[in-house]
Amino acid sequence: MSERVGEHGIGADALAGARGALRELIEDLNRSRGTGWERWRTLPFDPARSEHVGAVRDLVGKLRPATDNLVVLGIGGSALGNIALHSALRPANWNLLPHETRGGPRLFVLDNVDPVFTGGVLDEVRRDDPGLSRTVFNVISKSGETAETASQFMIVRSMLADALGDDAARHVVAITDPRQGTMREICDRAGYATLPVPDGVGGRFSILSPVGLFSAAMCGIDIDALLDGAAEMDARCSETDPSRNPAAILAWLLVELDRRGKHNHVMMPYANALYSMADWFRQLWAESLGKRVDLDGREVFAGPTPIKAMGATDQHSQMQLYREGPNDKVIGFVEVESFDRDLDIPGGPGAESLQYLHGSTLGKLLAAEKRATEYALVDSERPNFTITLPRLDAFHVGQFIQLWEITTAVAGRLLNIDAYDQPAVETGKVATFGLMGRPGYEQWKTKVDGRLGGREYVV
Ligand code: PA5
Repeated sequence: MSERVGEHGIGADALAGARGALRELIEDLNRSRGTGWERWRTLPFDPARSEHVGAVRDLVGKLRPATDNLVVLGIGGSALGNIALHSALRPANWNLLPHETRGGPRLFVLDNVDPVFTGGVLDEVRRDDPGLSRTVFNVISKSGETAETASQFMIVRSMLADALGDDAARHVVAITDPRQGTMREICDRAGYATLPVPDGVGGRFSILSPVGLFSAAMCGIDIDALLDGAAEMDARCSETDPSRNPAAILAWLLVELDRRGKHNHVMMPYANALYSMADWFRQLWAESLGKRVDLDGREVFAGPTPIKAMGATDQHSQMQLYREGPNDKVIGFVEVESFDRDLDIPGGPGAESLQYLHGSTLGKLLAAEKRATEYALVDSERPNFTITLPRLDAFHVGQFIQLWEITTAVAGRLLNIDAYDQPAVETGKVATFGLMGRPGYEQWKTKVDGRLGGREYVV
């Protein structure tokens, strides 16, 4: 994977000026690898790697031959990585392929409690497998407390008990804290198969742990290649010379541009398969960097706003704004150098003005669209950068993931904020407990009603 940054906008001089401070920062990051909340950094390496890959493979070996449907229950960091890996590395029509062609189960990810969405997916797996005998539910929750995942799990557990009686437990794989928490207690009591959300690995940094690896391996993704790519990128991002460290350059440029008023950071892949990766990135960037206070307790209201877009589709939707609207954005293109397939554009009768397309391919057109858009942005002095994946495969996706996780860690340090907490998310969680009547959280209902009560909008 290669990155081209800094060609337009901030010059190399500014980066040179920051070199000393960046070097210290990278050294600090390298020292804290594998400690505290930076234990995600060790996931591509032994011993964590062989332990997780071994456990995932054992379980996949047992379950995959007898599984037609895999339903993931999780939200936020316990779902976005699963969706991103599947979309990037499996065909878009995966669930529609015949079982023999797929060689793995259909995958559904229930990452919301929308009753229509949830009910629709559950209806679909029961239609295909009325007795649920060939369906596995993979519940993922580090805390085991999240109301969305817990409520889905309760529905599924009761459904499985009705359909399968004593056999129900064999159809649940739980990924949760290995030692503590509500989900852990439930698993121990029910005898579910479990995999760990490892210590020191927060939800949004868990994609390369069993959280992301289990559903990926069930669907035939090469998880070793994924981890190899991440390990290779980790080595590059450990380089203490900032000008040779892609995460340091990317983080520094994005934070510097944010300071210069470019508060919106767009990720715009020119590949449908990477659109969900942009979703994964949005959570990583937003939840890690969006903080009211810095590490010294000062109110800073830090954090650029991540936005997702897709080329060429959003050239016909967002690009007008990006080029002529407020100059407050950085556009991050992601391109794939060589697609696994391409489609020739044939000629045809009439329409002389379309003949220029004859003899070309959709891949060439997409690449030209991206280059044309890059030109248009540069021409309007809108900062942008490009990340190029030579191919869309597990190795390069692994590189991409580790690059952005380390970039986030560097950006957190540059902003002097804690990239690993999420106090604002927790407020929403406990306020929901209060509204739903959970004992011990009554004061939250009082607070919510006090603040919002009496406000009614009638249109
Ligand atoms: O990144 C995070 O920490 C969050 O998005 C969590 O993953 C999300 O809130 C779900 O939490 P849990 O896995 O505890 O159910």
